Amino acid sequence: MRKLSAALMLLTIACGKPPSPEHPTPAARVVRGRPVIPSTWTLTSRPVTAPHAMVVSAHPLASQAGVDILKQGGNAIDAAVAVAFALEVVLPDAGNIGGGGFIVHRTASGEVTALDYREAAPAAATHDMYLDSAGNPTDKSVVGHLASGVPGSVAGLYEAWKKYGSLPWAALVAPAIRLAQGHVIDSARSRDIASDRELLAQFPASRAQFLVHDSAPPPGTMWRQPDLARTLQLISDSGPDVFYRGQIADLIVAEMQRGGGLITKDDLRNYRAKWRTPIRLSYRGHTIYSMPPPSSGGVTMGEILNILEGYDTLPAFGTTAYVHLVTEAMRRAFIDRNRWLGDPDVVDMPLERLLSKSYAATLRAQIDPKHATPTPPQSGGGGGGGEAMQTTHYSVVDAMGNAAAVTTTLNGGFGSGVTVTGAGFLLNNEMDDFATAPGKPNMYGLVQGEANAVAGGKRMLSAMTPSIVLDTAGNLQMVVGTPGGPTIITGVAQVILNVLDQNMSLPDAVAAPRIHHQALPDQTYYERGGLSDATVRALQAMGHKMEQRRGHSGIIAAIQKTAGGWVGVADPRYAGGALGY
Ligand code: GLY
Repeated sequence: MRKLSAALMLLTIACGKPPSPEHPTPAARVVRGRPVIPSTWTLTSRPVTAPHAMVVSAHPLASQAGVDILKQGGNAIDAAVAVAFALEVVLPDAGNIGGGGFIVHRTASGEVTALDYREAAPAAATHDMYLDSAGNPTDKSVVGHLASGVPGSVAGLYEAWKKYGSLPWAALVAPAIRLAQGHVIDSARSRDIASDRELLAQFPASRAQFLVHDSAPPPGTMWRQPDLARTLQLISDSGPDVFYRGQIADLIVAEMQRGGGLITKDDLRNYRAKWRTPIRLSYRGHTIYSMPPPSSGGVTMGEILNILEGYDTLPAFGTTAYVHLVTEAMRRAFIDRNRWLGDPDVVDMPLERLLSKSYAATLRAQIDPKHATPTPPQSGGGGGGGEAMQTTHYSVVDAMGNAAAVTTTLNGGFGSGVTVTGAGFLLNNEMDDFATAPGKPNMYGLVQGEANAVAGGKRMLSAMTPSIVLDTAGNLQMVVGTPGGPTIITGVAQVILNVLDQNMSLPDAVAAPRIHHQALPDQTYYERGGLSDATVRALQAMGHKMEQRRGHSGIIAAIQKTAGGWVGVADPRYAGGALGY
């Protein structure tokens, strides 16, 4: 651990084209092009540079598994599969065979694909299943057996490997099996388990798997997960068949029956990963590929960037004018997200219009340079813009120049809290990503509409934004993503803005304090100490409702091509790992 101290002076940087707010703009939060990091932040992880290849994930052991595969001659997808299974073992709060995710992949020759292995609602799911008799949302979409969608990860990873993988499947699962047989738990993961101890203690298999005398295993504990090792061995031997039709499917269904959940053998048998057309954005001459629906990530980020692209230059980082413009762009993009987006196999969405530059110009013209625009009221509101971080993202670039941006999730930390008895993995609580009560906030405070209402077989809308950025010549420049619920979208957008508009290095762009606005609740969230008091006051005077987070916003895992090689950045806010060779 190291403390990044902010013995940095504030400096005013000249503003770009957008008109200044009428209140005096406090000094920019950058010094000689570097963001001011609040002195109270304890930051960890250092950027890594390597000539050939790079893996950045939320756990050093998972990154090691990926790099080992790359060194054996594996490609980016091989490494991504190995990292995914390793994360299942070492990062159980987010990893993930009981969950789902997305891959955006670009080959060295420029072919870009997007793989959707998002969970699907069980066939028996219904529109109002999470409402009580008074029509209010219950916590059944968050905790326990009813909260789980049909897991997609094993199908998705196998599908990615079938299309692009080069090493044997078993070689990619092997590192995870070894880790499940025993690895030493570190302090970050011990803390993660401790913070969800009460959730895990509710379910006997979770209690047995994760707690020692009802407490988190202390750092330094050799942690053995024999049920999970057996499950991974079965997946290694038989691929997804055993998970969706065989022995593991039986254990999942038995667990559902034990706790009153809905997932059946048919739900598992019918599950398919799906190739989607990636969202392709252009921003100031760069090309950005990101995830299409059922993720809202690519579309919403696209709207934010399209709005901001209309200003010749953006104001300096951290100024009132900058926070105002970025907030107003986020607000408008999230209004559309929450209204229009859902599962593309079920819902018609005006994606072409939402992503057009002319529509962005209309939205931009509505931004008042001097005042916040209140989000139009809908029923509900309130909620939290929550700080949950229990999705995970990893970025991979291999020695051939193939790249994979992968974001996977159980949704909340440790998902539904339910471990499949005898199989040793947690199930997701992804059903809460539906608008379980349209017009009312979910656990992230998102207020969404009928487009994302619950229905059997439907995929719930996500915010995951795995993204690949090309330079103005069309070469791979950056691979980026993060966990963080709706803050995923705004976090990824801000890293891209920091690099492309604010000319920050990737480590600075990732470390820089972030803001977040998601339309409803109508609040601008900022990280603790991330804005100066003067900036907060100036924004309040413009009508922004400012809310300081208790903690941080996002855990970026990103890679950038530089003259010196690949730079890997694990967000210094969390104990992740960047590793290359
Ligand atoms: N469960 C978080 C997301 O998919 O956005």
